[in-house]
Amino acid sequence: MGPKVSAKRITAQQLRSRQWFDNPDDPEMTALYLEKYINYGLTWEELRSGKPIIGIAQTGSDLSPCNRHHLELTKRVRDGIIAAGGTPLEIPVHPIQETGKRPTANLDRNLTYLGLVEALHGYPIDAVVLNIGCDKTTPALLMAAATVDIPAIALSVGPMLNGWLNGKRAGSGTVVWEARKKLAAGEIDDQQFLEMAAASVPSVGYCNTMGTASTMNSLAEILGMQLPGSASIPAPLRERGQVSYQTGQRIVEMVWEDLKPSDIMTREAFENAIVMCSALGGSTNAPIHLNAIARHLGCELSNDDWQRFGYDIPLLVNLQPAGEYLSEDFYRAGGVPAVAGNMLFAGLIPNPDAITCNGQTLAANYAGSPSHNEDVIRPVSKPMKSKAGFLNLKGNLFESSIMKTSVISDEFHETYFNNVGEPGTFEGTAIVFDGPEDFNKRIDDPALNATASSILVMRGTGPLGYPGGAEVVNMRPPAYLLKSGVTALPCIGDGRQSGTSGSPSILNAAPEAAAGGGLSILKTGDPIRIDLNECSVNVLLDDDEIDRRYAELEKAGGFKVPESQTPWQKLFRENVKQFDEGMVFEGATEFRSVAKK
Ligand code: FES
Ligand code: MG
Repeated sequence: MGPKVSAKRITAQQLRSRQWFDNPDDPEMTALYLEKYINYGLTWEELRSGKPIIGIAQTGSDLSPCNRHHLELTKRVRDGIIAAGGTPLEIPVHPIQETGKRPTANLDRNLTYLGLVEALHGYPIDAVVLNIGCDKTTPALLMAAATVDIPAIALSVGPMLNGWLNGKRAGSGTVVWEARKKLAAGEIDDQQFLEMAAASVPSVGYCNTMGTASTMNSLAEILGMQLPGSASIPAPLRERGQVSYQTGQRIVEMVWEDLKPSDIMTREAFENAIVMCSALGGSTNAPIHLNAIARHLGCELSNDDWQRFGYDIPLLVNLQPAGEYLSEDFYRAGGVPAVAGNMLFAGLIPNPDAITCNGQTLAANYAGSPSHNEDVIRPVSKPMKSKAGFLNLKGNLFESSIMKTSVISDEFHETYFNNVGEPGTFEGTAIVFDGPEDFNKRIDDPALNATASSILVMRGTGPLGYPGGAEVVNMRPPAYLLKSGVTALPCIGDGRQSGTSGSPSILNAAPEAAAGGGLSILKTGDPIRIDLNECSVNVLLDDDEIDRRYAELEKAGGFKVPESQTPWQKLFRENVKQFDEGMVFEGATEFRSVAKK
């Protein structure tokens, strides 16, 4: 262990909760603040004797099955807080269930963020435990912690145990995409389809593949916001309860050390997270969310940084969808510490001196952490794939996009992305869909004339078009092509893709069609050239034709988006930035350290 970097810096008199519960200048307000908090049995001693008040941002509920186990774990967190001399207060957080929320959970990330900022700012909270887990809960809570900037520590609910089907691992999401192809090809019936999907759900916890949840929870650890080794412990294991207790204890110490998100989530920490994301084979949702968290800390982070720091990093983690194993295997093989240990050994962590929530540096936490199973967590000398990061593709259709290279098979890369005699390039014809409903209606229609050199394009699915951005760019080829052996086609979209998908897609295109991006003027039949060497995607039309189409679209009243169904959808659309800018709210990022205000 290296030297403990942080030390006690503040006294009980400096706790912000004293402004509510112990303010000699305003005895009347102090009494008013106090009287209700004692009505369910809190004692004067818990509120007024200089104990830090620790919020627990509760994301577990019946509406949020992935995070629901937090309701149990919070009991252990409370025990830890009390043992360390703090007083816990649970904060209800607006639910974000990835699979349950219409039109998409991503729409509510900023709502949860805003709600938690208000709760932390407006109530007597000295520090907070962030109950993270299901995809968007992690970024929403880290964004709020970034804006408020009181001491904060994240606690993952933990992944589910491995799913099994016919003796084989069945991973969240991944098995659904597989089953969907089988259903389309007529190999299974509806009931078998549902049973295949349900095989991936054996216990409480979040998705057991390296989808967005496992990615974001692992990155929250490498960013320094979770106790080392804690991210990957499966939800039902005793270690999960134990680390919940330790998290409760540690947050109280962090209050006295005044160790804040802005001390931990620095530019250096984000660079570390980018390389870790590549080694994990992490989700394409990660750039959206990390760029957002960084912006709320006033730290520049762009999709160019993801390519610059991340692209050359090898894939070390053999988890679905890029590999074969699942979360339980990941934990048994050593989890985040083993990956970080291997990367540190090879000198691949750009900033090993970054400070983490336990007061130690990243290097002190992870140096020498071994992989216990080198098939699951590979050494850098034997990676799954040598360059596994994201490419940021640009051109006349959009200014930025993300392509996850870790899921592209060598075969697909060498044979498919080589249809004009240049490895890494692909020329094909666009088939354009306006949103997932249009895709589902028409994909199997023979009139589409899809071939092995079609490029499937989906638009109207960005932050404005499908408010929040649809997770739908994992498009499958039509049934007649699947039956003839074409199992994947290149896909382009201004929406997102599930982190559990393995399809070769160019995602998160910004600006989206609804914001006037080039996809808005694309037509079925247009020739598109994708060049992975130059990181470009262009429609092969001359500039005059492009200008003519923009004029035509403007005359027709611009790109059509469905009406907002709720007040929040309208407010979201009025304020939101594009995916490459983290889908943050215009204006929200100028607020920092609001706890001091
Ligand atoms: Fe919640 Fe995957 S749906 S973690
Ligand atoms: Mg998802």
